[in-house]
Amino acid sequence: MSESQVMLVTGGTGSIGRVVAAQALAQGWRVAVHGRSEASVRTWLAQLEGVGVQERVLGLDADLAQPGAAATLIERTSSWGGRLDAVVDCVSMGPSGIRLTGPFSATDPPGYAALLDFSVAHLQRLAHAALPWLMRRGGTFIAFASDAGRFAASGQALIGAARAAIMGFVRNLAVEVARDGVRVHCISPSFVLGSASAQRLPGRSAERMEHAAARAGLGLPVAEDIAPLVLFLCGEGARRITGQVISVNGGLHA
Ligand SMILES: NC(=O)c1ccc[n+]([C@@H]2O[C@H](COP(=O)([O-])OP(=O)(O)OC[C@H]3O[C@@H](n4cnc5c(N)ncnc54)[C@H](OP(=O)(O)O)[C@@H]3O)[C@@H](O)[C@H]2O)c1
Repeated sequence: MSESQVMLVTGGTGSIGRVVAAQALAQGWRVAVHGRSEASVRTWLAQLEGVGVQERVLGLDADLAQPGAAATLIERTSSWGGRLDAVVDCVSMGPSGIRLTGPFSATDPPGYAALLDFSVAHLQRLAHAALPWLMRRGGTFIAFASDAGRFAASGQALIGAARAAIMGFVRNLAVEVARDGVRVHCISPSFVLGSASAQRLPGRSAERMEHAAARAGLGLPVAEDIAPLVLFLCGEGARRITGQVISVNGGLHA
């Protein structure tokens, strides 16, 4: 068995995750690519035909809202790879049909707990399962949040709270597991051009995106602007860095 490093990309079939997975493969990692549906994983794997990396890829599907799913995913990845060096969580999920943005008084209280479960609690379950493996050789755990957790805006009280919870979790966990050689970071985008999440923005999404693009002095990022940072943080060059929340927003906020 090859001894190249093993990365699990959860949400690896999504807009950002698939670019992270592709760049990791290009750098020689073995990569377990996860998506919610078997069809999206199959579609992702089909794109690799002829690229010559099939023996370094594992496709996994699981609904991470289900109890035990995160633990099973980690188990399947580590038994395939014999090790686990990085977990990059690019999952984007949330309760549907419930109003969680907009004026706070117009939001739906029944959705609050589900929102927290789909964001920070899901991440806690994944980290809990992954840490024993990451501690074996000193690995990296990377979460995605969003700038709604760092910069206040009207109509974002709930999303802001859920994203800030992720940042608090990452920073505190990073200090705790540093002596075990594990590094923990959070990437915080605002708007990512061409992404599915951006297209799902509630309300006048195209207008909000245009407004943000006009304010971002460096230009809004695409997924290809984010993946190299993830790869750097998972690499040897970042071995003394942990607990960072890094915005990739083209200068929209600082
Ligand atoms: N894109 C942006 O503009 C933006 C801005 C700020 C923050 N972010 C954050 O960046 C991260 C990645 O975003 P993205 O734009 O790449 O998302 P995306 O394109 O919507 O991809 C979502 C991924 O999550 C998976 N997924 C959805 N529900 C799931 C569930 N219940 N269980 C397991 N997997 C599930 C999807 O699997 P399937 O493909 O099988 O459905 C897909 O792989 C997210 O945390 C997001 O909040 C993104």
